[in-house]
Amino acid sequence: MDGFHRSRHDRLCLFALFISLQCAPVLAVTQPAPALDKTTFINQLLDQMTPEEKIGQLRQRFASSAMPEPEVLQSIAAGKTGAMFGMAPRPVIRALQDAAVKQSRLKIPLFFGYDVIHGHRTIFPINLALASSWDMDAIAVSGRIAAKEASADGLDMTFAPMVDISRDPRWGRISEGFGEDTYLVSRIAGVMTKAFQGEAPSAPGSIMACVKHFALYGAVEGGRDYNSTDMSPVRMYQDYLPPYRAAIDAGAGSMMVALTTVNGVPATANDWLLQDLLRKDWGFKGLTLSDHGAVAELIEHGVARDGRQAAKAAIKAGIDMSMSDTFYGQELPGLLLSGEVSRQEIDNAVRQVLVAKYDMGLFADPYRRIGSANDDPIDSHAESRLHRAQAREVARKTLVLLKNSNDTLPLKKQGTIALVGPLAKNPVDILGSWHASGQPSQSVTVYDGLASALHNKATLLYARGANIIEDKTSIDKLADGNVEIDPRPATQMLEQALDVARQADVVVAVLGESRGMTHEAASRTNLSLPGRQSELLAALKATGKPLVLVLMNGRPLSIGKEHDLADAVLETWFSGTEGGNAIADVLLGDYNPSGKLPITFPRSVGQIPTYYNHLNTGRPLTPGASAIYTSQYFDLPHSPLYPFGYGLSYTDFSLSDITLSTQRLSADNTLEASIKVKNTGTRDGETVVQLYIQDVSASISRPVKELKDFQKIMLKAGEERTLHFTVDEHDLKFYNSRLQYAAEPGEFNLQIGLDSQNVKQQRFEWQ
Ligand code: BGC
Repeated sequence: MDGFHRSRHDRLCLFALFISLQCAPVLAVTQPAPALDKTTFINQLLDQMTPEEKIGQLRQRFASSAMPEPEVLQSIAAGKTGAMFGMAPRPVIRALQDAAVKQSRLKIPLFFGYDVIHGHRTIFPINLALASSWDMDAIAVSGRIAAKEASADGLDMTFAPMVDISRDPRWGRISEGFGEDTYLVSRIAGVMTKAFQGEAPSAPGSIMACVKHFALYGAVEGGRDYNSTDMSPVRMYQDYLPPYRAAIDAGAGSMMVALTTVNGVPATANDWLLQDLLRKDWGFKGLTLSDHGAVAELIEHGVARDGRQAAKAAIKAGIDMSMSDTFYGQELPGLLLSGEVSRQEIDNAVRQVLVAKYDMGLFADPYRRIGSANDDPIDSHAESRLHRAQAREVARKTLVLLKNSNDTLPLKKQGTIALVGPLAKNPVDILGSWHASGQPSQSVTVYDGLASALHNKATLLYARGANIIEDKTSIDKLADGNVEIDPRPATQMLEQALDVARQADVVVAVLGESRGMTHEAASRTNLSLPGRQSELLAALKATGKPLVLVLMNGRPLSIGKEHDLADAVLETWFSGTEGGNAIADVLLGDYNPSGKLPITFPRSVGQIPTYYNHLNTGRPLTPGASAIYTSQYFDLPHSPLYPFGYGLSYTDFSLSDITLSTQRLSADNTLEASIKVKNTGTRDGETVVQLYIQDVSASISRPVKELKDFQKIMLKAGEERTLHFTVDEHDLKFYNSRLQYAAEPGEFNLQIGLDSQNVKQQRFEWQ
């Protein structure tokens, strides 16, 4: 029965219960480590909590870096706050925790969450870059170190991994995800979750993962941030949901709910999503956390008239904790009193918060990550707290060589190199969009990296050449609008760059976007190089010097013209604290690039979406056949600029034909696909051998291919190795139109390649 319709008698009884619980006796101790098992401990604690204390646990508030205001401490001491988020120094976190465990009635510790997305103090490459490594060990290293550094700063939870599939580079947050492919993103979702949580979220150096944004945030219409998502169930289940599920299967303790709509219903009020799918179908046992202010946004979404309805809709849908809360604190007491929200519903949510705290080890020791004041670092930015060697090692694996004509790269460590561009000597943007506690003063720019590697061997000249962007109106609309602008006239900057270029043997232009341009609330309508950077590149080309384009950006760019102008193109994304050293390693040949794109680069924004695993259509464009009446754009080639999985090396690799162990696969056997890979060049190098499968004919149209496996291998110059891939029923399964997940009998194409387009193929049958 809805609380609105409860009898007056019922309401009076509930009121009596409310009052009696408010007067519940004080629990003797909740610390130190409970000897009771988790369920008994939490049940006993719940029994002793007043409704107000319970509702307090459901609220997460912002922690600023300054010492907390008295109002914040009072709210915690009164049991009205369950967790904090934001980055504050350890003394501030300690003061907040003191208020909880020394002053509140039940001494329930707070937990502290923060966006540790691609590193904490040592900043690793952005997630899109990490995915470009296709190297699960390297990705794990980045997550492990981030967890270690974050926990040493008193943090208990990271709002990561962000595993939203996105196929739209206009969306600024595409930089924060791991690309367009379900299989690759799902693999990384599991690896990152385990890396953050280690053996357990309570283990030393571990923090709890809060996987986000559930669900489908990466599919916002038009790539415009916060916009609606609308998607067929098959696409949702097949392509977009698996990464969240993979993070859960890897043990993620928490899930952040998207602030967008899913087929018309905001995720924050979506009981199908949060109850039926997440809890019942997937069996998720962890904490659900709203996104920042998302409960209040239900009013703007138009599914709640006011804060009271918003809080009611969210708690009933299954939002356990409200981030940056207003309405849970304000409205849940009244909703409980009136019976519109039941005690059971509140208890369910509180239980999840307590379980998360228990799992983070906070009941055993609320200061386990905060440490004691004596151990606080004198300088939290101290060099000794960084992990530079690992950051450099990981960063060089994330760089993708997109073009290298005439062996322009690697550069020789001799003569004169002209380094040009607004991102060449830029310690801020190289840190990327979610730079957590990373310090620009500690980042290595491309200039720094080249200068130290070339020391005494070659001359390095530098000119800025242009600004990243000049349009002030656009900059002002960015959440992180902090773009450094050189006030000199554009012609003066250009002339200086050309002057430098004319003196050099080779020109390296470092161009791209500012980190704030590929962030939250940073969507673009075009994907070209902003500002006058393209003009700068063309002018540099006109000097006749060999030209290397080093890209620094957080999304695929449509840089066909620049591809043609440059002799070599290296995609470096935003490569973090050690980015400049890693880029120098690759430019100078001290490391042979091995990255592969985790996302397709379109030729033009008008081609979007360009994801590789599309359906065939009834009128596909067939190479060699007439293009008329086929599915294409007549004003551009059909292919993307760079396909998914693409990336070059300083050596060459060849693939033999594929050998299959059998042409017939069934539930009782597996199929082994073997291929010989040879390093045909003169340098040792790594490459990623990718396996794709196409279901030729099924009850619904299936993609032209889907990634199902890959192996990253190192081959010495001249070395040949046979790789074996095992395929079984699982690789053939898909969701049909009734959302049944099964493999259907019939023929399949198995493809192996060094990118998604240039592949060897064999056919087999499933029966
Ligand atoms: C973002 C989340 C982030 C949160 C806290 C929100 O605006 O969507 O991804 O975790 O802010 O910073």
